[in-house]
Amino acid sequence: MRFNLSFKWLSLESMNMAIDLGTTSTLIYTKDEGIVLEEDSMVAIDKNTREMITAGKEVKEMLGRIPDNIIISEPLEDGVIADFKLVEEMLRFFIGKVQKRRLFIKPKVVVAVPSGITPVEKRAVINSIEEAGAREVYLVSEPIAAALGEGMPVTEPAGNMIIDIGGGTTEIAVIALSGIVNKVSIKIAGNELDDAIQTYMYDKYNMAIGKVSAEKIKKNIGSAHPSVENKEMEIRGRDLVEGLPKKIIINSNEIREAMSETLGLMKNAIKKSLSETPPELASDIVEKGLFLTGGGALLSGIDKMISKSTNLKVSVSEDPLRGVVKGAGIILVNINEYRDLLMDPNR
Ligand SMILES: Nc1ncnc2c1ncn2[C@@H]1O[C@H](COP(=O)(O)OP(=O)(O)OP(=O)(O)O)[C@@H](O)[C@H]1O
Ligand SMILES: [Mg+2]
Repeated sequence: MRFNLSFKWLSLESMNMAIDLGTTSTLIYTKDEGIVLEEDSMVAIDKNTREMITAGKEVKEMLGRIPDNIIISEPLEDGVIADFKLVEEMLRFFIGKVQKRRLFIKPKVVVAVPSGITPVEKRAVINSIEEAGAREVYLVSEPIAAALGEGMPVTEPAGNMIIDIGGGTTEIAVIALSGIVNKVSIKIAGNELDDAIQTYMYDKYNMAIGKVSAEKIKKNIGSAHPSVENKEMEIRGRDLVEGLPKKIIINSNEIREAMSETLGLMKNAIKKSLSETPPELASDIVEKGLFLTGGGALLSGIDKMISKSTNLKVSVSEDPLRGVVKGAGIILVNINEYRDLLMDPNR
């Protein structure tokens, strides 16, 4: 009995994990425990030794008051690896955190990656995860994982359209019969909305605000459609003319104006994807509507905005930050059943 229990505890199966390696956040799922890690894709590095000090939420907490000897880095850019060594160290840190004292067992990993990933980028992701301690690495494209995680019937013949607005990429995919029939992927997403807010504050109020503040403004009062309640917020920043700290009150309408060009690019990408969808699948989509996920789906009024510009029904995920890792987790647990959903690592 005792032998059986400890044997189970050490079983290879329970060490396996699904990873959503996102531009903004990394999530890890295990079969036994579900989502076990949800942290910012950020690392703190020692300026002198170039060694990683820590990663994830501890780094986010440091932002704004970082000592001189520390550099903060976001090693993923637009969904793909910008700094190979740092991604590997970050993953090693996260995987170590999840495995606790069971580090000697090498897990099998299913990792979700952007659908537009190049073969070279695929190699970089696989190498990073292997170097971080994995035994086998399987790739699945983010839209497929997200659709599966949201419970969409991805293996059936009818078309499903999913829109994933993340931090670095917006991916729009039509999925049927376990494959992506057509996709549009743009490197315009949540981060660009934050940039647009920073630029607006600069241009209109001569005010410099940090990236973290811009994101806060977006989350608190940002809106993508005029029907959403107009909220106000006090903003603190630095006056660019006088160099002194100042505070002003801004509202949702202004922030919508600030984001309008960027939101317009997202709308165009969605329309492009619809126009490229084969007619028989388009008719399924007209009937079912569009499905919205990723952190950007939390922006208030974005469903209304998309619905207005496409004349289609838009449903929003109930848990938009976790759909991708849930879907990758479903594949991990039923890898033989869902083999068709995996990406070819070499193409
Ligand atoms: N309440 C909210 N309102 C608006 N935007 C939000 C909200 N919550 C999170 N976001 C935005 O969602 C984005 C992160 O989403 P998500 O975690 O899905 O991205 P990611 O998977 O890390 O990135 P990617 O898929 O592009 O690699 C960030 O830009 C964040 O500011
Ligand atoms: Mg994502």
